[in-house]
Amino acid sequence: MANNKTLLITGCNGQVGRSLSALDWPGYNVVSVGRDELDLVDVDQIKDRLRSIRPDVVINAAAYTAVDLAENEQHKAYAINAVAPGVIAQILAEKNGLLVHYSTDYVFSGESSSPYRESDETNPNSVYGCSKLLGEQNIQKSDCRHLILRTSWVYSEFGKNFLLTMLRLANQRPELRVVNDQIGCPTYAGDLAQLTKDMLQKIDVNVFDQSAIYHLGNTGSTTWYDFTCAIMDCSKLDVNIVPVKTTEFPTPAKRPAYSVLDKSKIEADFSLAIPTWKDGLERCLQRITNPNAE
Ligand SMILES: NC(=O)c1ccc[n+]([C@@H]2O[C@H](COP(=O)([O-])OP(=O)(O)OC[C@H]3O[C@@H](n4cnc5c(N)ncnc54)[C@H](OP(=O)(O)O)[C@@H]3O)[C@@H](O)[C@H]2O)c1
Repeated sequence: MANNKTLLITGCNGQVGRSLSALDWPGYNVVSVGRDELDLVDVDQIKDRLRSIRPDVVINAAAYTAVDLAENEQHKAYAINAVAPGVIAQILAEKNGLLVHYSTDYVFSGESSSPYRESDETNPNSVYGCSKLLGEQNIQKSDCRHLILRTSWVYSEFGKNFLLTMLRLANQRPELRVVNDQIGCPTYAGDLAQLTKDMLQKIDVNVFDQSAIYHLGNTGSTTWYDFTCAIMDCSKLDVNIVPVKTTEFPTPAKRPAYSVLDKSKIEADFSLAIPTWKDGLERCLQRITNPNAE
């Protein structure tokens, strides 16, 4: 329709990008692109594609998310997570567009014992965390109106994620050993996409000028062990789950021991009703069991 705005969603084959693309977006013509149509490693391609699509709003859900591999693929992680968001912001600013960009709890070191607020000091432990932090900073340095949404522990009914891995392993093994000394908050990608849409519907995207970082995801906190217990409980799977320490599963990238994000700022500023992580889990498991129900 002639008066519709154009919304560009990047990373449309990822968990969040796919969830965003599955929503109805009244008032928008939606262009969803995957890596094949827009490769964020290629700066010239980003510039060409954005100048030809001319979006009013970009939701950048594309990212290099292989946290451990990033330790050895530093150049690629920085290209996608740090350079590309800055270039998108720079081109979008030419048309006064709005950039919505996802970042991560891994920008924090994890030494806190109370939920991180947006104003807390960042100090990432990993290449992935550093690359995402630089992405935030490159957007902030641009003249582009933006909303940076830090989220955490994302899972969904598709792709590769902790929930699907645990469900698969539960059907293969009598016992699962799961880390019980990392505290965070699982976020259902379907809820994150819906909350992002709810937020955008509360503002006039043509004039909104309150650029900011926000923490967004489901609410509450848990450990990977307790999350696994809840997954098995909700799925009625009978498997022995053994709590273990992070040191039992050494990984190339260090994870924050505590990375709960305080979401009260976005809740207040946009009057959002944010579901708990348990609600999100139940909704995701229902969609896995019955993909056509709504
Ligand atoms: N997953 C988490 O636990 C988590 C936690 C905190 C924050 N986040 C952030 O949340 C956002 C969404 O994450 P997600 O869980 O949806 O990640 P995801 O499922 O891994 O999806 C990322 C998407 O980015 C695409 N991509 C990778 N390299 C690309 C490139 N060079 N050009 C274009 N697209 C490229 C991938 O394409 P292919 O499908 O072709 O590989 C994939 O579809 C990201 O910003 C991430 O950093 C995620």
